[in-house]
Amino acid sequence: MDKIIIEGGKTLKGEVRISGSKNATLPILAATLLTDETCVLRNVPRLLDTHTMVKLLKSLGKVVDWDKDKIIIMSNGKTNPVADYKLVSTMRGSICVLGPLLTKLGEAKVSLPGGCVIGVRPVDLHIKGVEALGARVNIDAGYIIAKSKRLKGSRVYLGGASGPSVLGTANIMMAATLADGETVIECAACEPEVEDLANFLNEMGARIKGQGSPRIVIQGVKKLHGADFKMSPDRIEAGTFVLLSAMSRSSFMIRDIDYQQLMALDDVLAKVGVSVEPDKNCVRVIPPRTLKPMSITTYPYPGFPTDLQAQYTAIMAVTNGVSVIRDTVFPDRFMHIAELNRMGARIRREGGSAIIEGVKELCGAPVVASDLRASAALVMAGLVAKGKTEIRRVYHLDRGYENIDKKLMALGASIKREKE
Ligand code: UD1
Repeated sequence: MDKIIIEGGKTLKGEVRISGSKNATLPILAATLLTDETCVLRNVPRLLDTHTMVKLLKSLGKVVDWDKDKIIIMSNGKTNPVADYKLVSTMRGSICVLGPLLTKLGEAKVSLPGGCVIGVRPVDLHIKGVEALGARVNIDAGYIIAKSKRLKGSRVYLGGASGPSVLGTANIMMAATLADGETVIECAACEPEVEDLANFLNEMGARIKGQGSPRIVIQGVKKLHGADFKMSPDRIEAGTFVLLSAMSRSSFMIRDIDYQQLMALDDVLAKVGVSVEPDKNCVRVIPPRTLKPMSITTYPYPGFPTDLQAQYTAIMAVTNGVSVIRDTVFPDRFMHIAELNRMGARIRREGGSAIIEGVKELCGAPVVASDLRASAALVMAGLVAKGKTEIRRVYHLDRGYENIDKKLMALGASIKREKE
């Protein structure tokens, strides 16, 4: 296992390029199971999670040729309906093979992904959705076993206690592409990654309308064909670099960013005292001398993303005042608090909220990364802290940030990777 060692306090400069979106890539890779024809995906980020999804696709019968940021996915002629526990348990995103396998083969056996440190993470909405399309679902020995002849289009409401489900919407949308008749998903997730997936499916010959809105309408078709598609930039990686720029009082250029997708962050940054200069697909952050505290609540898109909550907590830790951060999407996603406190932050958790009393500065310390976005928060804290920070279990970071240490090094950060 690797660890990352950071010497804090360097001003960052130059430019950084944002990679393709992880959360768009994972369901789009799963969507290639809907056809036996060849698909080509471009601007694919080389991440641990993409590697896991590629391994899963291979185990299901795909032949994958991955060169730099381009992946060609072909079929070996026979699709296997069983998504094994060993692969699914390492990455929750694997659940999105359920819809494609079921609708293409008439059966799917997908391991239940289980919870993770950010919460329980149920799959009831995925199951409700495929049942609404006529599938019979059983849970047996830790697997979801779903069967149906041809799925039948239907109206399905996908809102849960914490709002819509991103991968739930992805799964049901994919299942509905080959169903008989019309499916209407109400309370669909509006995340840009769902829109990307729908656009890819339409390139494959699907008939989907309303993507990006809470009501998606899918007219089932008999067959889908191969397609060639380029991934959008990763909005969470982009938001992380925007926050890092503000937190480190560094003004560097962030390239290949779709800043429109970060409206909620932009709104908050203006209140914190940070101005951002967007120019086509680039932005430059103009950080202020002092950062004002500002409370936020996370919501599904277009609200403030839960995937930027930990990074925002890191920046609020060094403002002059008190802020409250509430996560309505994953109310248990606060593992980073204890580690940030080891670096001198003053944060306490109350239920689904973090209460932060800003401190003047953080100091380097040995810390442990607990999950993907918590790791990003620790890297940000390490880059501004006084002295040395050693972050263990950085494989979490490698799940979602492509070449993060190299990108930061190119910006002038003092950061290195070592074997533990
Ligand atoms: C996706 C993203 C993840 C992001 C999350 C929320 C991918 C690969 N992952 O995860 O990075 O943090 O969206 O923006 O795209 N829920 C239920 N029942 C379900 C499914 C979900 O109650 O069947 C709840 C969850 O516990 C959570 C909320 O709905 O409280 C949102 O979860 P969901 O949108 O499903 O997250 P993912 O799609 O797994």
